[in-house]
Amino acid sequence: MQMEGKVAVVTGGAAGIGQATAQKLCELGARVAILDRNAEAAQATIAALEKSGHTASFYRCDVTVESEVKAAMAAAVAHYGALHILVSNAGIQRYGDVVTTTSALWDETMDVHVRGCFHATKYAIPAMLASGGGAIVVVASVQSFTAINNSVAYVAAKHALLGITRSIALDFASQNIRANCVCPGAIETPMLRETAEQTGSPEKMLESIGRMHALGRIGRPDEVANAIAFLASDDASFITGTSLIVDGGLLVPTGGMGFQESGIGTGEKV
Ligand SMILES: NC(=O)c1ccc[n+]([C@@H]2O[C@H](COP(=O)([O-])OP(=O)(O)OC[C@H]3O[C@@H](n4cnc5c(N)ncnc54)[C@H](O)[C@@H]3O)[C@@H](O)[C@H]2O)c1
Repeated sequence: MQMEGKVAVVTGGAAGIGQATAQKLCELGARVAILDRNAEAAQATIAALEKSGHTASFYRCDVTVESEVKAAMAAAVAHYGALHILVSNAGIQRYGDVVTTTSALWDETMDVHVRGCFHATKYAIPAMLASGGGAIVVVASVQSFTAINNSVAYVAAKHALLGITRSIALDFASQNIRANCVCPGAIETPMLRETAEQTGSPEKMLESIGRMHALGRIGRPDEVANAIAFLASDDASFITGTSLIVDGGLLVPTGGMGFQESGIGTGEKV
């Protein structure tokens, strides 16, 4: 993989998976623009990238606000003169079942994930077309295929991202634009840490989340960034409209790892 001469936009690039992705794309030679609503975290990320000799810039925007995404995308494209890669990654985690979820929380969750992806792709694609084509990677989730309890808005939003990605793949294939999802399991980021901190024993929770994965641990942001970089690169030139699950085997075991660990559920191995 190499990305010399490529320009990439990463939404939510100030922290976690987005930050690791910005770094990976920089290491491969791309010039990277971070779009994020957290200016402080983004500036720190840019400073760290520049310190290690990379070219990166920051454009503040809330992905839920169309005018802000339009302006940020335009500024990034004007700065670098092209756009070849979009990583639509900005996201939030919210909890509730269909009864306890308020309309406001539903809207907030759907807005960041679904409307945010809609805005980012809507304003990235014309710039990609003007640059001769490109690749879009949408960060979805294992919850694009399955559900965990008490997370209806998040689960619905992540399912919707598969549909957006497939539609883009179909609508723009003939114009040299590919679109794919990366679907992570639990990854060690500020988002996961925040969730763990909401429980009485965060370390215990993180340990038990790790054991849900066949590989026996939580993933690292750079392990997701590697998959994103692959799908964004020319090495994935015949891959579009699909999903790459990066979950340490989380979705593999029927009945979950707890069931596997205790044999057939009786505590006996067969
Ligand atoms: N961490 C996990 O376990 C995990 C698992 C599966 C999927 N994901 C998905 O990966 C993506 C990144 O998650 P993460 O764990 O790195 O999260 P994170 O909270 O660590 O980082 C998210 C980044 O997105 C930015 N952001 C959030 N809302 C925004 C908005 N409205 N406008 C602009 N920027 C915004 C934040 O400022 C932050 O920089 C999300 O889409 C998340 O749903 C995460």
